[in-house]
Amino acid sequence: MPVIGVLTAGGDCPGLNAVIRGVTVRTLLDDDAEVVGIKNGWEGLMEGDTIPLDRDTVRGILFRGGTILGTSRMDPYVHGDGYESCARTIKRNGLECLIVIGGDGTLRSALRLSNEGLPVIGVPKTIDNDIAGTDVTFGFHTAVQVATNAIDRLASTAESHNRVIVVEVMGRSKGWIATYAGIAGGADSILIPEVPYDLDAVADVIKRRHRRGRRYSIVVVAEGVELPAGFERPAARKDAFGFDRLGGVSYQIAEILEDMTGFETRVSVLGHIQRGGTPSAFDRVLATRLGVAAAGFAIDGQQGVMTAVRGPDIVAVPMEEACADIRGVPPKLYDTAAAFFG
Ligand code: F6P
Repeated sequence: MPVIGVLTAGGDCPGLNAVIRGVTVRTLLDDDAEVVGIKNGWEGLMEGDTIPLDRDTVRGILFRGGTILGTSRMDPYVHGDGYESCARTIKRNGLECLIVIGGDGTLRSALRLSNEGLPVIGVPKTIDNDIAGTDVTFGFHTAVQVATNAIDRLASTAESHNRVIVVEVMGRSKGWIATYAGIAGGADSILIPEVPYDLDAVADVIKRRHRRGRRYSIVVVAEGVELPAGFERPAARKDAFGFDRLGGVSYQIAEILEDMTGFETRVSVLGHIQRGGTPSAFDRVLATRLGVAAAGFAIDGQQGVMTAVRGPDIVAVPMEEACADIRGVPPKLYDTAAAFFG
C-alpha cells in the first residue's frame, strides 16, 4: 500500500494548492494508496505534524492562493538535527516517498536528505522563475500578471501628473519578473541584477521621452539590483535560510533619477501582493501537471528526482540539476525588452 507524503516549504507561491491537489488525486487513483500532508514545511516533518489528505480535503483548493498545509522557512540542517527527525516522521508514517514542493533552498535540503537515504522527490516552485533544470516554475506567470496590472495602473496616474514611477518587483537575485512584466507593461527602462546599468543613460531616456511629449515614464526595478557606485543599500536582515530580506532599493534609485531628470519621481514596491491570491489559469494547469507527474514518479518508485518542465513535457531530472545553478534572464530576452525603452 503506497503512502505518499507531501509538504510545502519556503516562501509560498500561487499554485501550491493545485500541486497538493494533483499529488493527492493522482495518488488515490491507485487502490489502497494513501496521502499524508506534512504541516508547515520542514518544521512539521521534524515535529511529526501531519494530516491525512483525501479527495474531500483537497476539494475547492485549486483556486486558492497560499498553501493549505502551511509553510515555514525552517531548514532541518540549520534549525534541527537534519536527517534524524525527518527520517523518524517518514518511518512512523510509512512514507514510501516524500514529495517536497519548494524553491532552491528547500530543494537543496531535499537533495541532502535524499543523498543521506531518504526517499524524496522535488517539485520546484517560485515566483522568481530562477530554478535551474526546468523551463519555467509555477507561480511566475501569476506574479508577472499582477505586476503587469500594477504597471498599467501606475502608468495612467503617472501620465496625469507628468511623473516618473519606479515600480519594484520581486525576484531575489534574478530579473525574470522585472523583464517579463516590463515587456508586458511597455516599461521605459528595466533594471535587473544580471545586466549592469547606468542611471545617467536611464535619465537621458526619460528626458528624451518627455521632450517628445510623453507625459510619464515607467522604470521597472528588480528588488535584487545593486546601487550605482557611491551609494549603499542599508544592511539587509536575513531570513531563516540566510537569504537577504530584500525590498526598497527603488527609493534610492528614484531619488537619484529625480535629481538627474527634474521630473517628480514616485515609487511603488509591489512586494508580497505578487505572491498572494489566486493563481492564473496557466499556473493552475502547470501546478496540476507537476503534482500529477510527481505522484506518478513516486508510485513508479523513483527517488532523488525533481519534476521539470521541458518543452511540452514534464520529466524527472536529477535533483542536483536544480541545485547546480540559479537561472538568470538570457541576454537575448533582455535585449528584446531593451529595444522598446524610451
Ligand atoms: O523567492 C520568492 C520571494 O518572493 C522573493 O521574490 C522575495 O525576495 C522573497 O521570496 C520574499 O520572501 P519573504 O516572504 O520571506 O519576505
